[in-house]
Amino acid sequence: DYVLDFKDTGIDIQPTMYGIFFEDINFAADGGLYAEMIKNRSFEFTLPLMGWEQPNSDRHSFNKQSGYANIVTTKEGTNHNTARITVRDDKGYSLINEGFRGMGIKAGAKYDLSLMVANEDGGIKKIIFQLIDEKGTVLGETSVSPQGADWKKYETVLTPSKTEAKAKLKITFEGTGVVNVDMISLFPQDTWKGRKGGMRKDLVQKLYDLNPGFLRFPGGCIVEGRVLERRYQWKKTVGPAEDREILVNRWNTEFDHRPTPDYFQSFGIGFFEYFQLSEDLGAEPLPILSCGMACQFNTGELVPMDELDPYVQDAIDLIQFANGDTSTSWGKVRESMGHPEPFNLKYIGVGNEQWGPDYIERYKAFAKAIKDEYPDIIIVSGSGPFPDGEYFDYGWEELKKLDAEIVDEHYYNTPEWFKENATRYDAYDREGPKVFAGEYAAQSVAIASPENRNNWECALSEAAFMTGLERNADVVYLTSYAPLFAHAEGWQWTPDLIWFNNLESYATPNYYVQQMYGNNPGTDLITITEKKEPITGQDGMFATAVVDKNTKEVIIKIVNTSEHAQETDIKVRGKKLATKGTMTILGNDKLESENGFDMENIAPKTSEFELKSRKMEVEIPAYSFVILKVKIS
Ligand code: AHR
Repeated sequence: DYVLDFKDTGIDIQPTMYGIFFEDINFAADGGLYAEMIKNRSFEFTLPLMGWEQPNSDRHSFNKQSGYANIVTTKEGTNHNTARITVRDDKGYSLINEGFRGMGIKAGAKYDLSLMVANEDGGIKKIIFQLIDEKGTVLGETSVSPQGADWKKYETVLTPSKTEAKAKLKITFEGTGVVNVDMISLFPQDTWKGRKGGMRKDLVQKLYDLNPGFLRFPGGCIVEGRVLERRYQWKKTVGPAEDREILVNRWNTEFDHRPTPDYFQSFGIGFFEYFQLSEDLGAEPLPILSCGMACQFNTGELVPMDELDPYVQDAIDLIQFANGDTSTSWGKVRESMGHPEPFNLKYIGVGNEQWGPDYIERYKAFAKAIKDEYPDIIIVSGSGPFPDGEYFDYGWEELKKLDAEIVDEHYYNTPEWFKENATRYDAYDREGPKVFAGEYAAQSVAIASPENRNNWECALSEAAFMTGLERNADVVYLTSYAPLFAHAEGWQWTPDLIWFNNLESYATPNYYVQQMYGNNPGTDLITITEKKEPITGQDGMFATAVVDKNTKEVIIKIVNTSEHAQETDIKVRGKKLATKGTMTILGNDKLESENGFDMENIAPKTSEFELKSRKMEVEIPAYSFVILKVKIS
């Protein structure tokens, strides 16, 4: 028998408890959330014609070419490459963009095409744009007539006649002469909130449905970079999209076993867009900044302490960008981007996954500068990637001495580890810093193994572990699964919460676990016990209970990791409950089950159940995560 006791524990569930970790890994931003369909739209990749084919241009038989593209550096500033096209005859010289593993287009939908053109000698009369399928069949067509030798923006709309997952964009130049083109861009009109040049609607919807308490961005390792020069620098990601300097993505795994040499960051989603997304989702923005240490798994490059100032200044200026009024220089930039109101930033992260004395030294400099100027901003610090290792303990000890507020812990481990660690925070110091469980995911094979699966066993173990996060809500303030997104044809890391291709996306079992927690956080922790002990794995069962003061409900989360259904009697102490409640079950009797684009084996189902006086009698199916919700009368 379980006992549900309404006695006040004095422990609040933080509104930030269940949140989102976003990183541009697995084509999560470019090729994913960012709805731009043209890869290398401004010819700035290391190989400037990567992603572009020239079917009628054979560099080995120069005399027979009907045309060719030269990449020239003509412009000042960050985005300086342009394609200078020479068309020599009327045989149909064209450029074809392959998109991000193709382009997903929908029949009848409208796509905004835009580009910059300078018609150098006026010889090009028309530029024709065609959406084509893999066989070259034309699925939609439009054109522009370029005027004049000065740079000018042209805009037109494409409406495909057929839905196609692997379309390409073919651009044909009519006439003969020399023309310069740049920033060739194609976006669906149907983006999240209909924003021009915005985000993929289906993907943002999935984030919205998680009801996240916070949005952590922009990573992960991309914050750090493999070398410092390639770290994430937020100032380069704001202002007009065409001026944002492109960067090789940290997950551009040119030299790894799963090559994605075409992975760059256009920063079409930059810090403004992350703040705006946080606002759309009703989530607290949680930016993480470089602390002057490149990824310690790579070069571990360190900025000397006497050169740390610009890094610290980036943090100070970011707070002004987010919160400063429009008379401040960074507040002005925010205003110029269409958001005069502040974003109300409350948290800032210093360093992603750094460890050791080098980190502590740098953290101190950041903490002093931030607190001197913005005493109310809450700083999130790191503890490194190896829970319970030497540097982990060292980091915690040092951070405690420094009165750190929130420490970020990361763990990727086996399903067994997750179940065993449901008691992890029971022993944490109640006087010490709070915990941000900032990255976690159960690994079915081994950490970051390409064989890992988003299977039910992993998701169920995460649900069990999360009962321990919630039971310890006086210590654990924020939590997030990682990574968030993966393109089915271009990923570097598994498992991931949401998988997508260019047309569709699907929710993994792990997603539904997060969704059930995120939509049922409650406001106050109460206790559910068996023989006066918390339920942390006895007979494979795990449980936690909260009250939601706003809806006047009790919410009980029970996880049955055993292979048998378990009859559960819950005695209620301290409050009267309604006679009916709802029971939401996420379950499957096969631990190896998964979801996919065409199958949903694991999804929550809600039904009603009846209560007897002061007692709930429910059957918790084998291998299931159940939420019981009842009104308090
Ligand atoms: O989530 C994938 C990676 O795992 C993150 O970028 C990094 O912080 C961690 O090592």
